[in-house]
Amino acid sequence: MVHFAQDLVNSVNKKMNSSTHTRKSRIIIRRMENKDIPEIVELQKIAFPHMAAEGVYWRPDQLESHLKIFPEGQFVAEYDGKIVGSCSSLIIRLKSEYEQHTWKDACGDSFFKNHNPTGDSLYGADVSSHPDYRRLGVATKLYDARKKLAIELNLRRIIAGARLFNYCEHVQEFSPLEYVQMVKRHKVKEPVLSFQIRNGFKFIKILPNYMKDPRSLNNATFIEWKNPHFVEKQ
Ligand SMILES: CC(C)(COP(=O)(O)OP(=O)(O)OC[C@H]1O[C@@H](n2cnc3c(N)ncnc32)[C@H](O)[C@@H]1OP(=O)(O)O)[C@@H](O)C(=O)NCCC(=O)NCCS
Repeated sequence: MVHFAQDLVNSVNKKMNSSTHTRKSRIIIRRMENKDIPEIVELQKIAFPHMAAEGVYWRPDQLESHLKIFPEGQFVAEYDGKIVGSCSSLIIRLKSEYEQHTWKDACGDSFFKNHNPTGDSLYGADVSSHPDYRRLGVATKLYDARKKLAIELNLRRIIAGARLFNYCEHVQEFSPLEYVQMVKRHKVKEPVLSFQIRNGFKFIKILPNYMKDPRSLNNATFIEWKNPHFVEKQ
């Protein structure tokens, strides 16, 4: 009886693993195109519901501007022809290595007006995946595309501000910095920063007042991935 139950569990696990594997293999990453914009706007509303309620998500004219300014830096994830993830990036050079900044500063007022082709850092303006397609590696594949781009363009690093998604649930217990320590020790559940750490990014410091966000109470983390293939120009 015990053996039978164990066999049943093993067979269910095997089926689940192989179905997850099949789902993962159906995710395709490609460059964003103008025709994708309406679908991306809808995805943003679903992926960022709290910020969307505050009116903070890409508008069509902003996505059009990103594509005009830096088409190579804009990616989508497709699953059976449906867009289930996206990420937008630009190149910048901060005045100092770890300059305090806001999302608006980094993203040239959301239009990437500050994109600097001679800059040294790829800036991750956003990343999101559809809630029905999470934990399948969608965002990881989008990040792999970003890393490949940073290597191809010989950029020194990728940086971003990662919102502390679950901080609002712990504000009575921890400061933002203490909260990050708890996330690093796996003591609290934090989808965004855990995802970034899992993808090789290092936590640098807290960015207070980063963006209007009821989940993080406007707190983000300055995160950095150093390009291991970067070659200093003489
Ligand atoms: C953060 C986000 C992009 C992750 O997308 P995703 O497609 O689920 O990410 P992946 O499947 O590639 O996850 C990779 C790893 O991240 C971590 N992770 C992702 N979601 C997690 C969660 N809910 N809880 C804890 N860890 C999580 C895990 O380590 C995961 O690996 P595992 O599933 O093998 O444990 C997604 O949750 C999202 O769109 N959130 C809302 C939008 C947002 O806030 N974006 C960030 C803006 S700064």
